[in-house]
Amino acid sequence: MKRTLITSALPYANGYLHLGHVAGSFLPADLYARFMRLSGEKVLYVCGSDEYGVAISIAAEKEGVTPKDIIDKYHNANSDALSSFGMSYDIYSRTSIPRHVETTQEFFTDLLAKGYLAEKEEAQFYDADANMFLPDRYVEGTCPNCGYDKARGDQCDKCGAYYNQLDLKNPRSLVSGKTPVVKNTTHWYFKLGDFQQMLEEFITRNAATWKDNVVQQSRSWLNQGLSDRAITRDLTWGVPVPLERAKGKVIYVWFDAVLGYISATKEWAAQQAEKGRGKAEEWRDWWTLPAGKTQEEAEMRYIAFLGKDNIVFHAIMFPAMLYARGNYVLPTNVPANEFLNLEGEKFSKSRNWAIDLRDYFQDFPEPQHADALRYTLAMNMPENKDSDFTWRDFQARVNNELAAILGNFVNRSAQFLHKNFDGRVPHLPEAAKKLPEAWKLLVGDIVAYNVFTPDEAIEHLHPKYLHYFSEDDVRVLASLTLHTKRAAENYTNFRFRDAVTETMNIARAANKYFNDTAPWKSIKENRDDAAKALYVCSQLIRSLAIAFQPILPNTSTAILQMLGADATHLTQSWQTLAHPLLPEGAQTLVPTILFSKVEDEIVAREIAKLGRKDDIGSMNDEAKTAPSTNDQAPTNQVIKPQATNDQALISIDDFKNIQLRTGKILVAERVPKSEKLVKLQVDIGTETRQILAGIGKFYTPEELVGKVVTVLVNLKPAKLMGQESQGMLLAANMPDGSLSLVTPEKSGVEAGAEVR
Ligand code: 2FM
Ligand code: ZN
Repeated sequence: MKRTLITSALPYANGYLHLGHVAGSFLPADLYARFMRLSGEKVLYVCGSDEYGVAISIAAEKEGVTPKDIIDKYHNANSDALSSFGMSYDIYSRTSIPRHVETTQEFFTDLLAKGYLAEKEEAQFYDADANMFLPDRYVEGTCPNCGYDKARGDQCDKCGAYYNQLDLKNPRSLVSGKTPVVKNTTHWYFKLGDFQQMLEEFITRNAATWKDNVVQQSRSWLNQGLSDRAITRDLTWGVPVPLERAKGKVIYVWFDAVLGYISATKEWAAQQAEKGRGKAEEWRDWWTLPAGKTQEEAEMRYIAFLGKDNIVFHAIMFPAMLYARGNYVLPTNVPANEFLNLEGEKFSKSRNWAIDLRDYFQDFPEPQHADALRYTLAMNMPENKDSDFTWRDFQARVNNELAAILGNFVNRSAQFLHKNFDGRVPHLPEAAKKLPEAWKLLVGDIVAYNVFTPDEAIEHLHPKYLHYFSEDDVRVLASLTLHTKRAAENYTNFRFRDAVTETMNIARAANKYFNDTAPWKSIKENRDDAAKALYVCSQLIRSLAIAFQPILPNTSTAILQMLGADATHLTQSWQTLAHPLLPEGAQTLVPTILFSKVEDEIVAREIAKLGRKDDIGSMNDEAKTAPSTNDQAPTNQVIKPQATNDQALISIDDFKNIQLRTGKILVAERVPKSEKLVKLQVDIGTETRQILAGIGKFYTPEELVGKVVTVLVNLKPAKLMGQESQGMLLAANMPDGSLSLVTPEKSGVEAGAEVR
């Protein structure tokens, strides 16, 4: 039986997930999984937290907590945020579970027995104070090539030279700051070179269907020639190496992380078995090939979604590991995404230039907001190049597309049904009783015509259809059929932006149909015409609910509920989404607003949060800074002490970075079309600054002029409603939700006085 296994890269459980992670590997996998399920495919989608790696143990040490505290906190927070986001994975597992440890150790033992692991002794820097060997990124020193004194353990950021760790001059441990000693240590190496040919064939076989960036990166690794890779480390946090003589050593985080997909599947199967659904051994149906069959013969597909920084591990390392183990599936595709930027800049947790998923849900808690974010991210998915999330675009997508196109069509059709047809799907006139059957045939024929536009469909149309359908009817059904078909093709080929665009085009065509058939006119002149138009609109609403199900799962449910019991009981399937399955006379419920508009103030509020120091949480940067391509050590940032709670404690030096001064408001005026924003000219002693402040609800412009206020003067300028704001006023929250400007307590303070 045909099966599709889907995974998303397991995020480290040492930071909150931000929109970059979501757009990179979660949303595409979820869209794909939902689409495949709707299409009737057997799908298993597994994911979970990556819970080992040095970043986690160091974060724990510095915070005086255990690694378990860190992973529990972030695993729970991330899994909650992902479920608010509407993720439909079958399990969100974690790599600290015993099943994962067993699975990883089994792989290690098996590969060792098969001769694919080599044991080697080598000299390495050792930090005697911290009692640990130092992976490359834990040492800093002087570059042996150019003399740069902050060169990393294996590579100089200044001249680009690569060298052996031991060649670094004046080495310093980033853990204790002391000079490390040199000590011998034993490690196990995966003989990746043994798989050079197999991987070359594997990549060549898949080159036509994989994304260019994935093929190119893989080829560039292969062209350099694959060599042995150390897969053990001298650390305590990780999967212990299952050998007596390897006490105190763990398996390298990247070796165990990819196996997390297998252990997550085992965990899922075990949980299912406990519930009486199948057997624990059924994980094999997804990962291991039936005896004597190739993966193609067994019709087993495995799709691994990830960001571009993870390509080599999924296109080279993991396939080699799976192949080495024997009779495991290999990835059928590795659709890696590029990176998402935020308001034109890279995500950076340390600069608070990021949007964490959980923060988003604090500000936008309703189910419609999850869908709004899914839609915006899908429309901006970094599929082939880096892309950008901006709050303005989010606002435009919600207001001009979700609300104005989809929401509007559903709402006005449903309102019309309630006003004129008792909220029921209209009965078709006697002469059109066979229309539902003709509709199904028409949809099939339009596919068979193999045309691209509704106009072309009309050209090919068999005259028999004119008995049932007007040109407007045919046009909208052709749009429905053709956009649905193309959306499916795009999903199948991992082109999610196009799939979503095609889906929204169905709603566009539906709106046009409502306008063109003008039922508000025909209801007065020819009720049968209005009834037919609304019959069609009702069916289109159901079609939209199904077509949007992968993208807007909450909205889809809301629409189906609105359509009533008859709709919710119908089988939801992609194959019949264009069919008129709602029975005549079906009772619908009073419509609710699917998408509320995003006001300018909200956009201004969200933009103003970016880069704000007070929002920086602890431990956050590790989320993406830790293990990069070939080492598992974190960047220096991780090594700084951190506070134990969410709100990082700052030193007095940190506070000195925040420049506060008094300012005198010279001019104040309202910003047109905004209730909240006022535009101020503020004298800050050395200059006059234009500042946009969100206090318009609590102060009139007249009240503001002449006030001496507190200004954050070194805030990065931001654009709010198209106008530059060069600073921020401080204000205190009042118990009633209003704001009170922070002003000097004594009179006589002049503009430009330092506030400290
Ligand atoms: O880059 C990362 O966030 C890694 N934790 C991804 C691991 S993917 C797989 F190996 F689990
Ligand atoms: Zn150098």
